[in-house]
Amino acid sequence: MSALVIRDLVRTFGDVRAVDHVNFKVEPGEICGFIGPNGAGKTTTMRICSTLDLPDSGDVRVGGRSVLTHPRDVRRALGFMPDAYASEPNMPVSDYLDFQARAQGLRGPAKTKAIRDVVEFTGLAPLLKKDTTTLSKGMRQRAGLAVTLLHDPTLLILDEPAAGLDPRARVELRELLSLLANDLGKAVLISSHILTELSEICDVVAVIEQGRICASGRVEDIQRELRPHASYLLRALAEHDVLERFLAEQPGVRDVHGEATGIAFSVDDELAASRVLSAAVREGIQVVEFKSIEADLEEVFLSLTEGAIQ
Ligand SMILES: Nc1ncnc2c1ncn2[C@@H]1O[C@H](COP(=O)(O)OP(=O)(O)OP(=O)(O)O)[C@@H](O)[C@H]1O
Ligand SMILES: [Mg+2]
Repeated sequence: MSALVIRDLVRTFGDVRAVDHVNFKVEPGEICGFIGPNGAGKTTTMRICSTLDLPDSGDVRVGGRSVLTHPRDVRRALGFMPDAYASEPNMPVSDYLDFQARAQGLRGPAKTKAIRDVVEFTGLAPLLKKDTTTLSKGMRQRAGLAVTLLHDPTLLILDEPAAGLDPRARVELRELLSLLANDLGKAVLISSHILTELSEICDVVAVIEQGRICASGRVEDIQRELRPHASYLLRALAEHDVLERFLAEQPGVRDVHGEATGIAFSVDDELAASRVLSAAVREGIQVVEFKSIEADLEEVFLSLTEGAIQ
């Protein structure tokens, strides 16, 4: 069974269609990146999934339970980490964890174990005595993740957890999420403005703009769909203009142009590319490098979204 199923979800605020017939799923053990520009509808969708808001129409199921009919079951099954906490409790991190664990209904040895487990998992031990109001952004995210994991949810919904983190904290977050999904089988929905920030850790992405999903699936598949022609780079011990002339003469080769590291060109498929390589070798061209070029992720994202703010 899917961990999260969003079906035909609609949420409007006055004239603004914040969420406009959104559909997608997240499977157990899968990390799904929810990508879109400011105001695209990410937070609104995530809040509905977490039972903090109700849709105008459509439904969300978490572990098979509907947010409309079984919100309590949904809350037990998921952990939501908002992009910002409304208020900061003025207490040591250890007390804050204890308070949150009790709020989740944990008591006695079960509570002690839950706190010990999340502190160990998130590496929070050195921060336990610090006051929550004095935590840095990265520390706060770590404490937020610990709180989100206290009741051992099967689905994690994280609203822009990487925003404002330094590169090391980002790598650490990435590692924690990989462990949660790959080793513990949890489903993760994680939002960001930036596709490149998530592409390495996400199995799948859903790209949203103005409330509508404009692309979803594996990043490689989306790249291929947007750029159906394969691009290749040829580097050889020869003058650039000789190589360019040679490539331009090959059947099926298009878009020949020089780049810093060699000559780039497009062909329809792999067979055509291998023919180009054979012909180059036959011609006595001393090939040093021949490789396919992936579409730049930022380019893919920009071509999907127009950046319009509602
Ligand atoms: N409570 C609300 N009342 C009125 N409009 C709202 C409310 N919440 C969200 N909106 C509107 O819904 C749209 C989507 O907002 P949302 O916060 O879901 O976007 P987002 O993708 O999370 O953006 P960001 O990347 O800036 O966090 C925006 O136009 C926003 O102004
Ligand atoms: Mg948001």
